[in-house]
Amino acid sequence: MAAHLVRPARLPMRTASPLAAAWRPATQSRISARQSPMLQTAVRYKSGPYGYTQAKALVFSKTGEPADVLSVHTHSISPSVPPSAVLLRTLAAPVNPADVNTVQGTYGAKPTFSSLIGTAEPSSVPGSEACFEVVSVGSGVTTLKRGDWALPASPGLGTWRTHAIVEDADTALVGISKDKLEGLTPEAAATSTVNPCTAWRMLRDYVDLVELSVRSGTGAGAWFLQNGANSGVGRAAIQLGKLWGLRSINVVRARDTPEATAALKQELTDLGATVVITEDELQERGFSSGRLRKELMGGESEKESPLLLALNCVGGRPALGLAKCLSDGGKMVTYGAMAKQPLTIPAGLLIFRDLSFHGFWFSRWGKVDPAGRRQTVETVLDLMRTGKFKPGPADTVEWTWDTPAETLQQAVAGTLDGFRSGKGIFVFKDT
Ligand SMILES: NC(=O)c1ccc[n+]([C@@H]2O[C@H](COP(=O)([O-])OP(=O)(O)OC[C@H]3O[C@@H](n4cnc5c(N)ncnc54)[C@H](OP(=O)(O)O)[C@@H]3O)[C@@H](O)[C@H]2O)c1
Repeated sequence: MAAHLVRPARLPMRTASPLAAAWRPATQSRISARQSPMLQTAVRYKSGPYGYTQAKALVFSKTGEPADVLSVHTHSISPSVPPSAVLLRTLAAPVNPADVNTVQGTYGAKPTFSSLIGTAEPSSVPGSEACFEVVSVGSGVTTLKRGDWALPASPGLGTWRTHAIVEDADTALVGISKDKLEGLTPEAAATSTVNPCTAWRMLRDYVDLVELSVRSGTGAGAWFLQNGANSGVGRAAIQLGKLWGLRSINVVRARDTPEATAALKQELTDLGATVVITEDELQERGFSSGRLRKELMGGESEKESPLLLALNCVGGRPALGLAKCLSDGGKMVTYGAMAKQPLTIPAGLLIFRDLSFHGFWFSRWGKVDPAGRRQTVETVLDLMRTGKFKPGPADTVEWTWDTPAETLQQAVAGTLDGFRSGKGIFVFKDT
């Protein structure tokens, strides 16, 4: 993300070059939750007298709990867009667990702090996914036009902001031409770049389930198994698996009431899940791969239907429960650690059962194969347009110019609480 010109709301600045514009000294209006509400509804010029865009961003200057370290920073963006850059207005931006972990300082990628948007202390804008609208385009940009939508091509852009200037726009963004928006919503597009792609890679890159399906000769697809099946990644795996003719066993946590659990099971079945069971059912005494086969896999034998891939979102005991169900030689791919418990695996599963354990991180994969990443995102968008891929339920939080900082902070702080009705997504209205 490039620098953004920060200036007092009313004072025009003449800038010799776009870069100079980007580095004007800051007049900071840092709005913390504890400050006067008057500040939060300060007079606003959507486009200032000299075309400056008024912008707000959630920022943090040190890692910690979101409620303690996040604040809202107000700044202005110059109308002079550098040649390789675009000015974007944010339409929707999800709050993913990884974003919260980044704010907490516990994620694999550490935040970088800078003074580019004029915060008093060097700061970072969290958020890795979003759907933006292109507002203006630098003279050298070839892939984006005004009115197109744009998605981050890689994480680290910093998306919890109303507006942004993005340099190297042709490589930093995946554009969606304005004549190809039909069938997409900003919320769906904003959640297309990480979770569906993660599910895609994990289903395709560890075990060749499609080949296994063909080889079985039964016409029925190969099986995979996953926990956290109602997560964004889990729902994507269910749908992609179904599209590719695979069958899935999906583990979720039981809800408050049997009716609510049944409703969740039905929701995932409607998405394409073959079997949905609760964590308690999986952990029941005596539940073994034999019982799994007899009760849930239609009595199919290990030979005709080996269960070779498990996707682990949770860790701890739930992960061990999955591993025990795998056939000999099976692979478990861990991509999340929602239970915050280590993975403890008895040696017998490695020695006698030849199971292997892998970790997947989409950020790393995307760095190695940026073209593949872009292509995966574009294919997911196509599936969304044609209704073959549905985004997960959303718990939207409206972000207008007047939204109090506390509302935004709380939306972030609640993200790691379990049993949520949907993914937190900032939906930008009058900004
Ligand atoms: N490695 C990668 O490249 C990659 C990419 C994308 C995501 N991820 C990771 O994948 C995980 C899911 O991300 P998402 O965006 O799909 O999540 P999400 O849509 O926000 O869903 C969160 C999931 O975690 C479950 N959960 C929450 N707290 C839990 C707990 N204490 N024990 C067990 N399950 C719990 C929830 O189940 P309930 O509804 O029962 O609470 C839900 O299924 C996160 O850890 C994220 O960091 C990794």
